[in-house]
Amino acid sequence: MATSSFFQYHIQIFLLSLLLCKIMCTSKIIQCDDKDKSTLLKFKYGITDPSGVLSLWSIKETNCCQWKGVHCDNITGRVTKLNLHCPEIYSDYGHNLDKSQCLTGELDMSCLFDLEFLSYLDLSNNDFNTIQYHGQCKNSSNNIYYLNLSDNDNLQADNILHWISNLSFLHYLDLSGINLQKETNWLQLVTMLPSLSELYLEDCRLQNIYPSLQYANFTALKVLDLSYNEFVSELPSWVFNLSSSISIVELSNNFIHGQLPQTLPHFQSLETLSLYNNDLNGLIPNWVGQLEQLKRLDLSDNSFSGSISTSLGNLSSLTYLNLAFNGLTGIVSEQNFLSLSKLNHLVLELTYLTSNKLPSWIYTQNSLTLLAIVNSRIPLELPNKFWKFVSDQVEYLDLSNNSINVDMSNVLLNSKVVVLGENNLRGGVPQVSPNVTLLRLANNFLSGSISSFLCHKTKEKNNLKYVDISHNLLSGEISDCWMYWRSLLYVNLESNNLVGKIPHSMSSLSNLIALNLYNNMLSGEVPLSLKNCKKLRLLNLGENEFSGAISNWVGESVIGLKLRSNQFSGNISTTICQLHSLKILDLSNNRLSGPIPSCVRNMTGMISKNESFDSFDVTIPTIDHVNFEFNINLMLLIKGIKLNYTHSILVIDLSCNNLSETLPSELFMLTGLKSLNLSHNQFVGKIPQDISKLIQLESLDLSSNLFSGQIPESMSALSFLEVLNLSCNNFEGKIPSGTQLQGFTNLSYMGNPKLCGPPLTKICPQDEKLPNEKQMKEDDDDNDNSQVRSWFYMGLGIGFATSFWAVLIAVFFNRRFRNFYFKCLDRLYDMVI
Ligand SMILES: *[C@@H]1O[C@H](CO)[C@@H](O)[C@H](O)[C@H]1NC(C)=O
Ligand SMILES: *[C@@H]1O[C@H](CO)[C@@H](O)[C@H](O)[C@H]1NC(C)=O
Ligand SMILES: *[C@@H]1O[C@H](CO)[C@@H](O)[C@H](O)[C@H]1NC(C)=O
Ligand SMILES: *[C@@H]1O[C@H](CO)[C@@H](O)[C@H](O)[C@H]1NC(C)=O
Ligand SMILES: *[C@@H]1O[C@H](CO)[C@@H](O)[C@H](O)[C@H]1NC(C)=O
Ligand SMILES: *[C@@H]1O[C@H](CO)[C@@H](O)[C@H](O)[C@H]1NC(C)=O
Ligand SMILES: *[C@@H]1O[C@H](CO)[C@@H](O)[C@H](O)[C@H]1NC(C)=O
Ligand SMILES: *[C@@H]1O[C@H](CO)[C@@H](O)[C@H](O)[C@H]1NC(C)=O
Ligand SMILES: *[C@@H]1O[C@H](CO)[C@@H](O)[C@H](O)[C@H]1NC(C)=O
Ligand SMILES: *[C@@H]1O[C@H](CO)[C@@H](O)[C@H](O)[C@H]1NC(C)=O
Ligand SMILES: *[C@@H]1O[C@H](CO)[C@@H](O)[C@H](O)[C@H]1NC(C)=O
Ligand SMILES: *[C@@H]1O[C@H](CO)[C@@H](O)[C@H](O)[C@H]1NC(C)=O
Repeated sequence: MATSSFFQYHIQIFLLSLLLCKIMCTSKIIQCDDKDKSTLLKFKYGITDPSGVLSLWSIKETNCCQWKGVHCDNITGRVTKLNLHCPEIYSDYGHNLDKSQCLTGELDMSCLFDLEFLSYLDLSNNDFNTIQYHGQCKNSSNNIYYLNLSDNDNLQADNILHWISNLSFLHYLDLSGINLQKETNWLQLVTMLPSLSELYLEDCRLQNIYPSLQYANFTALKVLDLSYNEFVSELPSWVFNLSSSISIVELSNNFIHGQLPQTLPHFQSLETLSLYNNDLNGLIPNWVGQLEQLKRLDLSDNSFSGSISTSLGNLSSLTYLNLAFNGLTGIVSEQNFLSLSKLNHLVLELTYLTSNKLPSWIYTQNSLTLLAIVNSRIPLELPNKFWKFVSDQVEYLDLSNNSINVDMSNVLLNSKVVVLGENNLRGGVPQVSPNVTLLRLANNFLSGSISSFLCHKTKEKNNLKYVDISHNLLSGEISDCWMYWRSLLYVNLESNNLVGKIPHSMSSLSNLIALNLYNNMLSGEVPLSLKNCKKLRLLNLGENEFSGAISNWVGESVIGLKLRSNQFSGNISTTICQLHSLKILDLSNNRLSGPIPSCVRNMTGMISKNESFDSFDVTIPTIDHVNFEFNINLMLLIKGIKLNYTHSILVIDLSCNNLSETLPSELFMLTGLKSLNLSHNQFVGKIPQDISKLIQLESLDLSSNLFSGQIPESMSALSFLEVLNLSCNNFEGKIPSGTQLQGFTNLSYMGNPKLCGPPLTKICPQDEKLPNEKQMKEDDDDNDNSQVRSWFYMGLGIGFATSFWAVLIAVFFNRRFRNFYFKCLDRLYDMVI
């Protein structure tokens, strides 16, 4: 009995607690407020939602507190937070932001206003087009303290600040990337926000920074970011008159000029002063050394002069210092950086360094991960302890253009990025550890074989992606050890003295994007196995002694194929037609014979689809947050003047071979061609009427062949033609008159005895009526002799020189990354591909 009642008693307790729990547990699931729910649904109405982020936002899903991005107060059930920012997704090689999954359409703020308790709103990185903020929102939610609309780059947001200036609780405001050009009194409007603590207006196309305003009444501002705008004026007084709570001042990447103020601003709490890439001048004032909290100082890329103030040595909290690319003079002494010990990033341009030793305080920096010292005029000496110091901690090393005269044979590099170009480095190529991803040693005096570099086997997998040892004195063969370097994307060994064949192991570079072996003494046949480099886009084997037939040793993704000045022979194989992506084909100055194959029309990359079609860049995947990109330029050589040519360029250069027969009509289907050079061959036949289909053509060179017949009238349709050379053929008859074909000089036509009419002085029989014929004929002969000669001297120089530039530039996805990355990689490397 006792046991049973005891038992019953326990059952009751158990059931009771179960019931209690049920009540409590359900009460934990906060139910959303109906009014808020209908507000959210109204807000959703104008939005296009390609990836279905808002798919749960519907009447059926009753509890709006569980909708994606919605947060409610856990007691009242009112919506307090809305976070619908779109994650950053990069397309391809991380080059462009892919916004196809992001929200777009209309942003109806008047609705959101009805969320009376909303305090946090993040809609950043979406792709909204328009924004509504008018409406009868009398009870407007005035609780918003965080508002982030940044990176809605296409948002038409006129008058947005007028609306925002009513949000009196706002602490954080980020409108970066939104075009605020029309907000002419932006500063007044944001100063109406009494609680504003962090203001981010990066890249908003603002133009007026109110340079003469003495004072802006921010009371609580900690972060002021106005970088990447269009301010063209003096440094504004009000910035240096901000309250002492200011911690970050970011004004980089504008066009601000003038000098820094001479007296110390109330910057007691300043941690970041970033003014890089402006036009500031004068001295770096001593007060900078009194900013005790300063962690980050970037004054690079301005026109500051004078010496580096010794007061900077007092900045004991400094972790980031960049003073490069100014006109700073004077001595960098031990005094300069006496108290610095926490440096993480150091970038200096020591144009006037007076000693050839690095100041010893560098070795006292125990957290240095980025060291860049460039452009010193005195040959820097680097003792062994320097390399040890670097390999122990420095991840990014840039010592380019310092006349460093060091034997590199026994150096082991261990930094992730090593840039040592434009020095006097001697000895063999240094060894790299598996940690190195980018190695640039171009323009030095490194010599000997690269086999000790290439064939050095390590236990771990090598991570080297990018190697440039161009313009050195390397000799011997290219060793057959490429299988150890499977990460390579870019190899540049241009302008060395390398001999022998391309080794088979190169076929193991399955990620390779660009290979440049231009201007060496390499020979033999190109191995078929090269085709395994399926991602190869640029191949430059020009100026070597390669021989054999041109075969299908490149994959279909090749866009630039440069084989000029070798000894390739045989017919142009039809395999070339399979290169659907090809845009630059340079086979000039070889021993090719036979006809141009009619399958050339399969080279669809040469067919233009529209006027402003695809850009031509090859992007190499990112190393950290930096992308490397080739911008390919052609050089246009007209009468000896080099002009850079930067549009997308489609070029075929088959000049200086023994090619023959008539031109296949399919050639004239490559309607995107900008330059066609068939000179110095043995082509026969007429220029077909179809030539007019090459509507983009800017340079046409058919000189020194056996072409005959009349110059077709249809050629006058080539309205972009800037360079025309039909000389030294057997053309006959009258140059079509009344067309732009007469705009060229007689140089374009001479050496065709049967050709007549202007611009030639020879009069066509049907036009023979003019009196001074004899006189003119004499002039003609005179001209002919001297001009023909100079024409031949210029020879290949006329028209597009197919040596195209590939400028490797560091591309930053967006301004944010750029701010965090180091400026030095920014002015990177160019080279000829
Ligand atoms: C409710 O939210 C407050 C803070 O907003 C938090 O401290 C508390 O733990 C929450 N309570 C529950 C039951 O989740
Ligand atoms: C705003 O959003 C962007 C992208 O989501 C983010 O990078 C940025 O830090 C945010 N701004 C603030 C002030 O939090
Ligand atoms: C404004 O708020 C008050 C009290 O919260 C409420 O009585 C009134 O109906 C609201 N007005 C509107 C237009 O929402
Ligand atoms: C700002 O608030 C005032 C009064 O509180 C109101 O009259 C005005 O319309 C509001 N401005 C905007 C743009 O909402
Ligand atoms: C700043 O001054 C403007 C008038 O110039 C005023 O409207 C605003 O309320 C002031 N802001 C603060 C935070 O005091
Ligand atoms: C700073 O602002 C005050 C007004 O508050 C003004 O009197 C003073 O001249 C300003 N200082 C500078 C350096 O512009
Ligand atoms: C560095 O700080 C010390 C003490 O704070 C001071 O005496 C000295 O003048 C400062 N040096 C410079 C160059 O400002
Ligand atoms: C190398 O440094 C010198 C100054 O020492 C400068 O004039 C020159 O432009 C620099 N060259 C490059 C390629 O940056
Ligand atoms: C590569 O770097 C890591 C730390 O980043 C280090 O532990 C490792 O020893 C380095 N490898 C070599 C071969 O030095
Ligand atoms: C080259 O082409 C010509 C003409 O099509 C042909 O007669 C000849 O056999 C070809 N030569 C080779 C080696 O393929
Ligand atoms: C060219 O393309 C056509 C049709 O796409 C195909 O039949 C032909 O085999 C191709 N020719 C060559 C040489 O690749
Ligand atoms: C053309 O481009 C190259 C490489 O960027 C540069 O060195 C040269 O100065 C440029 N020439 C002209 C005329 O702009």
